[in-house]
Amino acid sequence: MAELVVLASGSGSNFEAIARRVRTTHHRLTALITNTPDAYAIRRAESIGVPWIVVDYASGRSAAEAQLLDLLTTLDPDLIALAGFMKVLPPPIVDAFASAIYNIHPSLLPDFAGLNAIERSWNSGASRLGITIHYVDAGIDTGTVIEQHSFAREEVSSLEEAEARIHALEHSHYPRVLCEALDRPGDRRSAM
Ligand code: GRF
Repeated sequence: MAELVVLASGSGSNFEAIARRVRTTHHRLTALITNTPDAYAIRRAESIGVPWIVVDYASGRSAAEAQLLDLLTTLDPDLIALAGFMKVLPPPIVDAFASAIYNIHPSLLPDFAGLNAIERSWNSGASRLGITIHYVDAGIDTGTVIEQHSFAREEVSSLEEAEARIHALEHSHYPRVLCEALDRPGDRRSAM
């Protein structure tokens, strides 16, 4: 049995997909951590029965980052999954958890790193749209790619359809990749 913690800031649809998938395994999603006190992800955590914790950045970034590091050190998960977490993890956290931090990004990295990736991909006229699951390093969406999944732009006819297709790819592949990593002791922090 391995333990996972998810960090999310907003709606939490990926968090919910991960939680539901982990439930079907012998692994545990031990907590949702959010920086947003009114995140919809918290409502999802309550309805699924996952404990949640707010790290409040309102009192200052360095205090919040220290609190986050303490919290993660205490929880001591085997894996950390970012799922729409809108804060950059500082080097002490990235270093402490090395290759045990995963992220999902709604574009084919290295293209369209950063905010509003779906809209920017769509507006660029790129021939393929998709998702990237990658390790987290100290940069923004710059870590080593684990998997990418895509579809041809002509398969969808609007930005809204592209968004729906991208979220469906996220919800299907990210939980699977995380559960596969939880299954492989060599990919988990506790084995390092
Ligand atoms: C997803 O599109 C994810 O790729 C990006 O942020 C979004 C989070 O959506 N990093 P949700 O909160 O999981 O619904």
